[in-house]
Amino acid sequence: MDLGIKGKTALVCAASKGLGKGCAISLAREGVNLVITARGKDALDATAAEIEKKYAVKVTAVAGDITTAEGRAAALKACPSPDILVNNAGGPPPGDFRNWSRDDWIKAVDANMLTPIELIKATVDGMAARGFGRVVNITSSAVKAPIDILGLSNGARSGLTGFVAGVARTSKLASANVTINNLLPGAFDTDRLKATMEGGAKKSGKSVEEVRDQRKKTIPAMRFGTAEEFGETCAFLCSRHAGYITGQNVLIDGGAYPGTY
Ligand SMILES: NC(=O)c1ccc[n+]([C@@H]2O[C@H](COP(=O)([O-])OP(=O)(O)OC[C@H]3O[C@@H](n4cnc5c(N)ncnc54)[C@H](OP(=O)(O)O)[C@@H]3O)[C@@H](O)[C@H]2O)c1
Repeated sequence: MDLGIKGKTALVCAASKGLGKGCAISLAREGVNLVITARGKDALDATAAEIEKKYAVKVTAVAGDITTAEGRAAALKACPSPDILVNNAGGPPPGDFRNWSRDDWIKAVDANMLTPIELIKATVDGMAARGFGRVVNITSSAVKAPIDILGLSNGARSGLTGFVAGVARTSKLASANVTINNLLPGAFDTDRLKATMEGGAKKSGKSVEEVRDQRKKTIPAMRFGTAEEFGETCAFLCSRHAGYITGQNVLIDGGAYPGTY
């Protein structure tokens, strides 16, 4: 299916690896020019070169921390009027809420709630004026099914989810073909998941393979998701065909969430 977004421009945040990279690749395959960000310059430049070589699109790499005002300013300078915005950043660390300080909370809220809100604020009115806009926020299945040790993530991402639920439904945006949706990953085989599995193995004394197998068995699909399939869902939500889908939380988790709704 032609997604109808050839020649559009996307700002894809935190995209040198993992789910962000998956989104960047699927958009590039559709002919979307990209500005991608990450903190580490080497991996980011390598990803930009890889995508540009494979797909005939322009890819601009902007190294920086997207959770800081400077990082966002640099990204927006390179991409002041994106047609598509994919919000992403690293997730906060796990732990016990009794040990978290106000600063820990501010950091999590800055990264996983206020950063996407700032970027939405900077871009959606321009999208509305041009009559096309797609915003996809990468959040987490923990928004629907909270994980106790991920309290910082549960809290900050739920704040973003509440904000999006309201702003996506404003007629100024929805009637101007600007949509805002959240993509909720379950367990995806990325560096982040690998690090979690290695941590689990160390703690339990089991091998990494054992921990991975055990985890897979908790998912009805009996496997982890791939960045490619995540990217394809993102690209569809960014497509011309998805203009009537807004304010939604799309769970991609191999059936792991046990509820009806
Ligand atoms: N994978 C999963 O199973 C899963 C499940 C639920 C939720 N999530 C969430 O989905 C998001 C992406 O996860 P992932 O698995 O794709 O992680 P990943 O494989 O570790 O990749 C993270 C990417 O984001 C970049 N990044 C991280 N912090 C950044 C920052 N402050 N500014 C700019 N770039 C930044 C990293 O590059 P640099 O380090 O060089 O900056 C890298 O390119 C995270 O928020 C994660 O919590 C993932």
